[in-house]
Amino acid sequence: MYPLKRQHTFGLDAHCNAFIEMNTLDDLQRWVSASRNEPYLILGEGSNCIFVDDFDGTVVAIRMLGKTKQATEQGELVSVGAGENWHEFVVWCLENNLYGLENLALIPGTVGAAPIQNIGAYGVEVEAFIHSVDVLNLKTNKMTTLTKHECKFAYRDSIFKQELFGSSIVVGVRFVFPKKWQAVVTYGDLQTLISPTPHAIFDSVVAMRKQKLPDPSTIGNSGSFFKNPVVSEACYQRIAQHHEKVPYFEVHDQKAKIQKVKIPAAWLIEKAGFKGQLYGGVQVHPHHALVLTNANDAKGEEVLAFARHIVKTVYERFNVKLENEVRLIGKQGLVAL
Ligand code: FAD
Ligand code: EPU
Repeated sequence: MYPLKRQHTFGLDAHCNAFIEMNTLDDLQRWVSASRNEPYLILGEGSNCIFVDDFDGTVVAIRMLGKTKQATEQGELVSVGAGENWHEFVVWCLENNLYGLENLALIPGTVGAAPIQNIGAYGVEVEAFIHSVDVLNLKTNKMTTLTKHECKFAYRDSIFKQELFGSSIVVGVRFVFPKKWQAVVTYGDLQTLISPTPHAIFDSVVAMRKQKLPDPSTIGNSGSFFKNPVVSEACYQRIAQHHEKVPYFEVHDQKAKIQKVKIPAAWLIEKAGFKGQLYGGVQVHPHHALVLTNANDAKGEEVLAFARHIVKTVYERFNVKLENEVRLIGKQGLVAL
């Protein structure tokens, strides 16, 4: 049995049958061609996975490194190995005068996991800079390249969480940096920047994140536990009738071609009275209600029970169904709330 406590940032005391690290595409293809009878789980740095039980299978950690850049008509094209650390890549981009990812500074995890849930923060989603994604198809053991369009990116979603879940591994990501950089300073303290250079945005994002979010190296957590729910105008109005200043962001539903409203899940959870609450060893962070922490040697069943209680209470109170943003991993794989 291999311990997973240090392989995921929430730090639960779970184990798997075996843990293997893939440093090259060759390693990965050899593993795929060998007979695999037991379940497996692909892992980056475990900052969006919580092992709520022992995983009855092999955990395969993606560690392929490397960065290359090439000038093209569209702008600078940068190919990055899936195992590179995301924040170090953002820093490297700034050092190489490649601008745009500074809003996504300090997000934990690997480059390969970035397209999985289309990471986003401070007004930018990574899809804006993705050119294409190289994946190994686990059924054919062959490489294919998905264009950005084929990745079906959406808020905290992509084809990798849907149709391709479990059947493909991201091996590398290609980013494109347009020749002309445009500052995105619509969110939080960024609006107050007098001179919004890429470096100033980077510094401001790092400062805001350090102030708001608990550092996983100090206290186990996986960032936002839930997604921010997108609701109809009518639903928002119903909530706003009973509460003052309900925070919201307008979003356009491309498919339905209607205007919708995103309400911060943190606000709903705080209003439902959970901020700072402890359940066993799990706590709703006292400074940010969207983050659950491993405050005191938490157990997997406590995480599930508390999260389910929060979902139920928020639903009863606001008629809004929260969905988990983190991936909960049990004995056989993904666990639903
Ligand atoms: P893991 O947790 O290891 O894996 C996540 C999922 O992707 C799993 O389903 C896994 O099977 C799959 N996966 C991983 N690598 C691959 C691969 N190469 N091929 C196929 N599947 C793969 N996210 C945001 O979007 N915005 C934020 O602002 C943000 N802030 C955070 C703050 C904190 C403190 C923490 C702890 C997390 C935060 N997150 C945020 C969530 C997390 O950082 C991202 O989801 C990140 O991309 C996860 O990377 P990882 O390598 O740790 O992925
Ligand atoms: N709020 C509360 N109570 C709290 C915290 C926040 O009511 O305890 C309300 C406030 O009104 C605040 C609003 O929620 O203005 C939004 O809070 P914040 O700016 O911290 O952002 P968020 O919506 O909670 C999202 C992402 C984060 C990302 C930030 C910044 C999701 C699920 N989460 O959080 O991503 O870093 O915006 O862009 O979309 C993650 O995915 O792990 C993550 C941390």
